[in-house]
Amino acid sequence: MKNEPALTFRSSRLAARLAALEVELLAFITPYPSDLHGLPHLREVSLLAGFLADAEGQDVERAMVAGFLHDCERRDDGADPRHGERSATKACLLAPRLFPYLDAAAIARAIKLHAGGITTQDDPDAVLWDADRLTLVRLGYRVDPRRLSTSCAKRLVKVGAVDVLREHAAAAVQGV
Ligand SMILES: [Fe+2]
Ligand SMILES: [Fe+2]
Repeated sequence: MKNEPALTFRSSRLAARLAALEVELLAFITPYPSDLHGLPHLREVSLLAGFLADAEGQDVERAMVAGFLHDCERRDDGADPRHGERSATKACLLAPRLFPYLDAAAIARAIKLHAGGITTQDDPDAVLWDADRLTLVRLGYRVDPRRLSTSCAKRLVKVGAVDVLREHAAAAVQGV
């Protein structure tokens, strides 16, 4: 059963998970050096994906790993149309090794297609794609609820809570 989105952010719990998975993953990836698509973005999408996964009854750690890796092979701040594919390939290598208890295939699939702009009924994909799209304001785009897949993300937009959630995520990252 899916919960209504909480307008609070359980920052300490998700931030602790983020800190732990960062230690594992940053030994193997080099985020693109950018505030738009680099480490700050990977951290934010990881936290937001964890938040959405929690609200949607999905695997929180799987969502956070997918969030952290989704842009890990970006090479520029432009369209970089193959970055989803490259990042998925990296996830296929790292996830089974570092997190063998997670569904690596689901992580890789969500990452591979995250930049396509489509919506989905597949829960692991939906959580990642929505987490990424909730941050589109940083690129100067409005978040379009028609491009969101989860009920939680749609409600966050409807009640105008995305900025507040992102502020909480930013505050949580300060402690990572
Ligand atoms: Fe991306
Ligand atoms: Fe992204």
